[in-house]
Amino acid sequence: MGENFRSITFIGVLILALCVFPGFVLSENGVTTRHYKFNIQMKNVARICHTKSMVTVNGKFPGPPIMAREGDRLLIEVVNHVPHNISIHWHGIRQLQSGWADGPAYITQCPIQTGQSYVYNFTVVGQRGTLWWHAHISWLRSTLYGPLIILPKQGTPYPFAKPYKEVPIIFGEWFNSDPEAIISQALQTGGGPNVSDAYTINGLPGPLYNCSAKDTFKLKVKPGRTYLLRLINAALNDELFFSIANHTLTIVEADAIYVKPFETETLVITPGQTTNVLLKTKSLFPNASFFMTARPYVTGQGTFDNSTVAGILEYEIPSNIPHMKKLPLFKPSLPALNDTNFVTNFTNKLHSLATPQFPANVPKNVEKHFFFTIGLGTSPCDKKIQTCQGPNGTKFSASVNNVSFIQPNTALLQAHYFGQSNGLYSPDFPINPLHWFNYTGNPPNNTMVSNGTKLMVLPFNTSVELIVQDTSILGAESHPLHLHGFNFFVVGQGFGNFDPNKDPNNFNLVDPIERNTVGVPSGGWVAIRFLADNPGVWFMHCHLEVHTSWGLKMAWLVLDGKLPNQKLLPPPADLPKC
Ligand code: C2O
Repeated sequence: MGENFRSITFIGVLILALCVFPGFVLSENGVTTRHYKFNIQMKNVARICHTKSMVTVNGKFPGPPIMAREGDRLLIEVVNHVPHNISIHWHGIRQLQSGWADGPAYITQCPIQTGQSYVYNFTVVGQRGTLWWHAHISWLRSTLYGPLIILPKQGTPYPFAKPYKEVPIIFGEWFNSDPEAIISQALQTGGGPNVSDAYTINGLPGPLYNCSAKDTFKLKVKPGRTYLLRLINAALNDELFFSIANHTLTIVEADAIYVKPFETETLVITPGQTTNVLLKTKSLFPNASFFMTARPYVTGQGTFDNSTVAGILEYEIPSNIPHMKKLPLFKPSLPALNDTNFVTNFTNKLHSLATPQFPANVPKNVEKHFFFTIGLGTSPCDKKIQTCQGPNGTKFSASVNNVSFIQPNTALLQAHYFGQSNGLYSPDFPINPLHWFNYTGNPPNNTMVSNGTKLMVLPFNTSVELIVQDTSILGAESHPLHLHGFNFFVVGQGFGNFDPNKDPNNFNLVDPIERNTVGVPSGGWVAIRFLADNPGVWFMHCHLEVHTSWGLKMAWLVLDGKLPNQKLLPPPADLPKC
């Protein structure tokens, strides 16, 4: 009896542990290692009355969550069983000294070829919160993505009331056709790519789309409880507004950084960003259900998917209330599609906690100042095609300081590490635009970009201030800029052209938000600061995938420091070859 009881309890504990941490766990010398296996495989998935074969992890869409605690080591074996090259990025993980595991194809690794595998091996240092993982090659992240959740160390509480339950809410975009075909066609014709056919919450489009009532995400709650929603925007090309009808959300974290809590009805989240919110349910059964909806925030000139994804917040019906047939369903009202005022007000409310336990270590003395313009542009049409479908018969392009990034055919990090950079990249990324123009005024006549694989080289531990200035070339537009390998502090932002004499006076060096992805305001600028304390090659790009495809990307090369713990570790033996 005793034996039996013990083994049942053990199985119970094991099942519980597996539910919370689906990975296989080993502990040694106080370090916990979690093993995951990602089989990349094709799977037929149907949404909005369209069935298609898509690339998935383990046949799941969205992909499985990765769970870990701060301080854990993760070993994720990715096996490629599909006819596409694959690489996976752990978005927001700092990858201290482990740049080989960062994932962007041709930046830190060659992609994993069909039939090959690679073990991503990294330790989560000094980070906790909601992050996510996604494919980082071409547009494959449209179906290859999932949550990456880092819990605080065992016994360390959140800096807010312990939630009753935690629920990931991951926004995505559904395309009826193959996204790989969409982007390759667009790059060939030079025009804008087709837009998505639906937005999704946890892979489900919801009742506002054709034949999708059964594909609706339902959040079932009890009254009088606090839920932690871990919001992730995994959409390819759209910033999103989100709201839950008749409920207030408390923002407590952004990009795995705790923030000073504040309440809001609605929030905005760019691709690449994550936001943790507390949802306090009504104290009594409300006799109603509530839509939670998301739709795009749009600043650009191009076409976009103007649809709305909805999920349902459903209260458990108390047993003393007779079963009701149809509850009224309340709908939230979201800001207008182009409501930049809302976005500005919202982002201005985000501040780091800046407490002794969670300090905001903003670099105070800046060693290197950079000024990068970002935006669209054009490149000439191939001779073979008579006219391209971009502006005036050209091809759409995009750039940083007018350099449109050319993806090399072998990985930059390897080239750097093995001293084989000759001809692959040049270490001369411009510190500011070659020519001054009124960046947000009337655009110049010549909108042609230049091309190159240029890196900005930084000695170890350089403190950097970077002004990112949107341009109005082919229309001003908000760009969610993402930096790999670091968090940065957003010390300032504004509209129009950055003024180096006036604007720095208003920088917040006390409690600025710290994050890995920032929305550069449409027709405006942001000022960010970071300390280059992580050796490696670090990609920086717009997280609107179409802009990345057009070249709105560059990379930083951070050199090794003198001490052993300031150097990039040697590459793993199974690092994929090109
Ligand atoms: Cu989430 Cu370089 O990406």
